[in-house]
This record gives sequence, C-alpha cells and structure tokens, in this order.
Amino acid sequence: MKIEFVVNGESCAAEVDSAMRLIDLLREELRLTSVKEGCGAGECGACTVLVDGEPVCSCLVPAVQARGRDILTVEGLAKDGQLSVLQQAFLDCDAVQCGFCTAGMILTAHALLMKKDNPTDEDIRTALAGNICRCTGYVPIERAVRAAADRIRAARS
Ligand code: FES
Ligand code: FES
Repeated sequence: MKIEFVVNGESCAAEVDSAMRLIDLLREELRLTSVKEGCGAGECGACTVLVDGEPVCSCLVPAVQARGRDILTVEGLAKDGQLSVLQQAFLDCDAVQCGFCTAGMILTAHALLMKKDNPTDEDIRTALAGNICRCTGYVPIERAVRAAADRIRAARS
C-alpha cells in the first residue's frame, strides 16, 4: 500500500507491505543509513528515530505506522552543512568512538532537550537508558548532552 509521511522536513511517499519495518523503509528505501540495526529486537536503541518528536525503536515499528507522521533521523539535524549544537557537543566531548550507537543516542538526547532545556544528570541517564554503547562507558555521552544543554540555554539568553 502507498503511504505518505514527512521525513526530515520533506514530504515522502512509499509503497510498503505489512511485513516491512520502519527501519527497512528508512534504510533500504530512503537510504537514510544513519539508522542502524543492532539487535533487531528493541533492546539496543541503535535504530532509534523520532516519530512526532518521540524516540522509537524503528526495528519494532511497522512501516505502515509512518503514515501521516513526522519522522526525524540524524540526517535531518544538521542545517546548511552545519552540525547541530548536540552533534557538535558529541564531537567536542569525545562521545563518539565506533559511532554505531551515535545516531540513536543523539536523537534520544535531542528529544530530551526539546522537552527539558536544563536536564539533571538523572534525567539524562534515564532518557538514554535504552541506548547501549559498547565503546564510551557513557560518561562522555552524558557530558556531551549536558554541554549541549548549557550551550543552547546560553545562546538563548
Ligand atoms: S536494532 Fe532496534 S533496538 Fe536494537
Ligand atoms: S561509540 Fe561504539 S557503540 Fe557507542
């Protein structure tokens, strides 16, 4: 069946079937390869995308549920070739090593910062609890989210 939806601010249409997952639609059909498949079972967070601003594991969501939704992948964060504040903070804080978890981490953190511009350390840990990183030990990631929150608030004041 044909569905219409928005990805990274652009209107899209695609043919999907009932067996197709959202991750397949994004990676295979739309070539948004930042969306990574790790466990394929909702346990690692590598496939996280935002649907109407909420983080979801795209390996668990049928593609047909994209109909009429607003989807954000990490490809949609940079504007005019400039990284978002959060992306830049991940680089500055050495929060990226192999990078496999990074897109999912950044999108989960992005959703948090859209709701809370001054999250506590506990807020950050709780928000990122479903995203697994095998490389960094999490401390640089939490530092990056804190740095991004501080930079965003400083830019507003
Ligand atoms: S690949 Fe979707 S949660 Fe691991
Ligand atoms: S940077 Fe390698 S899994 Fe997180």
